[in-house]
Amino acid sequence: QTIYLSEYQPPAYLVDHVNLRFELFEDGARVHSTLSMRRNPAAMQSGSTLELDGDSLTLESLALNGQSLASDEYRNEGDKLVIPTVPEAFELTVVTWIEPQNNTRLEGLYKSSGMFCTQCEAEGFRCITYYPDRPDVMARFQTRVEADKSAYPVLLSNGNPVEQGDLENGRHFVTWEDPFPKPAYLFALVAGDLVEKRDTFTTCSGRNIDLRIYVEARNARKCDYAMDALKRSMRWDEEVYGREYDLDIFMIVAVDDFNMGAMENKGLNIFNSSCVLASQDTATDAAFQRIEAIVAHEYFHNWSGNRVTCRDWFQLSLKEGFTVFRDSQFSADMGSPTVKRIEDVTLLRTAQFAEDAGPMAHPVRPASYMEISNFYTLTIYEKGAEVVRMIHNLLGAELFRKGSDLYFDRHDGQAVTTDDFVKAMEDASGRDLGQFRLWYEQAGTPVLAVSDHYDEVQGVYRLDIRQSVPDTPGQSGKKPQHIPFAIGLLDSEGQPLPLNMGAEDSNGPAERVLELTETQHSFEFHGLKERPVPSLLRDFSAPVRVHYPWTREQLLFLMSHDPDGFNRWDAGQKLAVDVIQSLVDAPQGTEIEPRLVEAYRLLLNDTELDQALVAKMLLLPSEAYLIELSEQADVPAIHDAREQVLTHLAQALRDDLLACYQRNAGQGDYQLTPGAIARRSLRNTALAWLLHIDDKQGRALAVEQFEQADNMTDRLGALRALVNSGFESDRIRALAEFFERFQDDPQVVELWFSVQASSDRAGQLPQIQALLEHPAFDWKNPNKVRSVVGVFAGQNLAAFHKPGGSGYRFLADQVCRLDDSNPQIAARLVSPLTRWKKFSPQYSSQMKTALERIRDKTELSRDVYEVVHKSLAD
Ligand code: ARG
Ligand code: ZN
Repeated sequence: QTIYLSEYQPPAYLVDHVNLRFELFEDGARVHSTLSMRRNPAAMQSGSTLELDGDSLTLESLALNGQSLASDEYRNEGDKLVIPTVPEAFELTVVTWIEPQNNTRLEGLYKSSGMFCTQCEAEGFRCITYYPDRPDVMARFQTRVEADKSAYPVLLSNGNPVEQGDLENGRHFVTWEDPFPKPAYLFALVAGDLVEKRDTFTTCSGRNIDLRIYVEARNARKCDYAMDALKRSMRWDEEVYGREYDLDIFMIVAVDDFNMGAMENKGLNIFNSSCVLASQDTATDAAFQRIEAIVAHEYFHNWSGNRVTCRDWFQLSLKEGFTVFRDSQFSADMGSPTVKRIEDVTLLRTAQFAEDAGPMAHPVRPASYMEISNFYTLTIYEKGAEVVRMIHNLLGAELFRKGSDLYFDRHDGQAVTTDDFVKAMEDASGRDLGQFRLWYEQAGTPVLAVSDHYDEVQGVYRLDIRQSVPDTPGQSGKKPQHIPFAIGLLDSEGQPLPLNMGAEDSNGPAERVLELTETQHSFEFHGLKERPVPSLLRDFSAPVRVHYPWTREQLLFLMSHDPDGFNRWDAGQKLAVDVIQSLVDAPQGTEIEPRLVEAYRLLLNDTELDQALVAKMLLLPSEAYLIELSEQADVPAIHDAREQVLTHLAQALRDDLLACYQRNAGQGDYQLTPGAIARRSLRNTALAWLLHIDDKQGRALAVEQFEQADNMTDRLGALRALVNSGFESDRIRALAEFFERFQDDPQVVELWFSVQASSDRAGQLPQIQALLEHPAFDWKNPNKVRSVVGVFAGQNLAAFHKPGGSGYRFLADQVCRLDDSNPQIAARLVSPLTRWKKFSPQYSSQMKTALERIRDKTELSRDVYEVVHKSLAD
C-alpha cells in the first residue's frame, strides 16, 4: 500500500497522442478515448504487458488497433486495466461511463453549481478514463466536448478551440487542441452556463493573448481584480524570469465546490470561487492579496510545472516549492516586501514547523507515501519555497536567474526531479550544492543553539553556533545541513557595526551571511569597543529555529532599532511570547511586563515607521504559535495568559487606541495600496482591542463602522470586534444583519461562518453544532466545511481543546461523516488531532481516543487511513 521513491521505474509505454470525446448528459457521461501508444525505449522491464490506471469507472468497450477486445484478452482489476500482450506501437480505444453528478469526492469530472468541471491533480484523470496516469507520461491532447446547448453553452478544454458546431437534439460541440505535450494531471474540461470577462495581453515578443475569466452570471462584477492580477503576473514573469506565455488564449474558471485553492491546468486554470472572485463590498484586503498571489501562482506554473513538470509525485516540490517562491517574490514586488515576509514566516513557523515536528513529518522530497493527496503539505509548498529562497540567497539574483534560465531551457518539455533543478543551479553558478541537497532529503526543522562571548580587552565578539537536526519518523542521526545565517551587530546607539572577521580588517559590511555546514562553528568579529547586540537570522534567511538567551532589554532594543524590518517585528514577537509564557501558570495578579506596554504605546503612536510594519507589529503572537513553541501545551492556560496580556494592554493603552483609530479612520476612496491596507489594519486592530475590554466608546465606533463601511475589510473588522466583545445584543444584531445582507453571496457567507467559528464567544461547541444545521451550511461544499469545522478546530483553540474532550469527539465524528463523501477533505480535517503528543496528558489522551475512534470506522478511505495510522504509530 506504500509507494517508494526508490522503486521508481520509467513507464513501460508512452502516449504520443490522446483523442478524447466527452458526451455529457444529466445522468452521466460517456468518455471515448483513443490513445496512440508505443513501447518506451527507456523502459527497464521487458515484456509486452500494458497496465492502465482506473478508478470508479464503468468500462463500456475496449479496442486495440480497431479490433474490439474479448473479455479474456484483458483483465479489469478494479484500479488497473491489464492487457497482457500489446504490440510495439498501437492505438487503444477505451469507452467508459462515469457519473459526474454523483461525484462528491471532487476528483476527476464532477458537477458544481450545475456546471461540469474537473480536478485531475494528482490522480483524478483515472476517474475519467483508463490511462497511464503518471506525470512522466506526456501526450498531446485533442478534446471534443458535447453537451446540451442551452444548459451548457460554454464548452472548454486545454489549448486552442479548433472546431465547433451544432448537433442533433439541441446539442452542440467544441473541439480543443493543446499543442504542448502534458501529463494527464493537467487535463481540464468545463461545461456550463457561464459569462466571460475578456481582456488581452501583449507579450514581450508582441503576441496578442486572449484572456478570459468565466463565471456564473451573478459573479460577473467580481472578476476585475483577478484579471488585473493576471496581467501583472504575465508581465512580471517576463521581466523577472524571462518567461513568455505560449498559447494564444488563457482562461480562468471559477467553481464553487473545489477541494483546494486552484489548479494550473494548461491554458485553463480552474479556481475555487473564493480564490478568484472579489469586489470591494464582499472581499477583505486579505482576500484581495490572496487572490493576487494565487492567480500569479497558477499562472507561473505554466513554466514551473507545465512546460517543465515532475517525473513522479515525490518531486512535487519541484513545481510547488519553486512556484510558491516565485509567487512570494511577485507579491513582495507588488506590495510591502517586509510584510509579505512576515506573513510567509508566520505561516511557516506556526504550521510547517508543527508539521515537521509531528507524526506526518516528511522531507521536501518524500521517500514514500500511501496517498499522494496527503502530501500537498506546508512542507512541500512553504518549506520547499524556503529551500529555493536559500538557493536564491546563496547564488545572488543574477546567478539564480542564470540557473533558472538553464533549468527551463535544458528541461523544456520534460518531466524531471528536484535534483535536476539543483543541478541546473550548480551548473549555471559554479557553486557546489552537494551538502545543500540534504534540505530535500532530511525532514525536521534544524535547530541552531547560539551563544556569544565578548572579550572586552581584545574588542572581540564571538558567536558560537551548534546545529542539530531532530529525529523524525523513520529518520534519525541526521547530518548537518548547509544553512545561510544572515546576521548584523548593533552598537548601543542602534547603529550598525562593521563586521570585521579578521583582526586586521576594517570597514567590513554591516551584514553578512554566515554559511553553516558543520555541527559547530565559531565566528569572531573584531574591533568592537563595546558588547554589541546581535541581530540573528535576518529576514529569516533559513527555515530553522534559533535558540539564543535573549534578554528583554535586547528585544526591546531590536524592536526599535534593528534596520532589518523582519527582525524588528520578530523581536516584538519574541518579547510578547516571553511575557505571555511567563504568565502561563503564574499566580493570579502577577505583574505584566510594563516595558511591553510602553513598547506598544510607542508603536501605536509611531507615525514615522512604515505603517504596514506597525500594523503587523501590533498583532500579538497567535495561540497556535504559542502552542507550537511550548512543550506539553495546556491550551486553555495559554489562551488565558494571552487574553490577560491583551486585556492589560488594551486597558493601559485605551486612549492611544482611540487616537490610533481616529487617525486611521476612513480616508477617501477605497484603495488597495500597502498604505491604505495598513491603515485599515491599524484601525481594526485598535477597534478589536477596545471591544476586547468592552469599551463604550469603542462599541459606538464599531457599530457605526459596521453600518457605514464602504468595504468588506472594515465591515468584517467591526463585525469581528462586536462578535468577540461582551456586548451580546450587538453581536446578535450584527450577525443577523450581516447574514441578511449577504446571504446570496457564498464567499461572504463563508466569512460569516468563520467569524463565528473562530470566536470563543460565538463559537463554543453547541453554537458550532447549530451552524452545521444552518440552511446556508452544505456538507458537499468544502469551503463551508472548512469555514465551520476547519476554523473551529484550527483557530478557536480554547473551545476546541475544552477540558472533557467534547471538541475532539466532535471533530472525529465530522471526519467520519465526510470520509464517505470526500476523503481528501476528511483527511485534512484530521490534522488538529495528529499532534496529540504535543499537549499535556489530560488533553493528549482524549485526542488519541478521538483518533482511535476514526481508525475504527468501517471502510476508512486510504487518505484518512494514512493520516490516522501514522499519527497513532509510535
Ligand atoms: N497544483 C495545485 C496548486 O498548488 C494544487 C492541486 C492540489 N490537488 C490535490 N489533489 N491536492 O496550484
Ligand atoms: Zn501550485
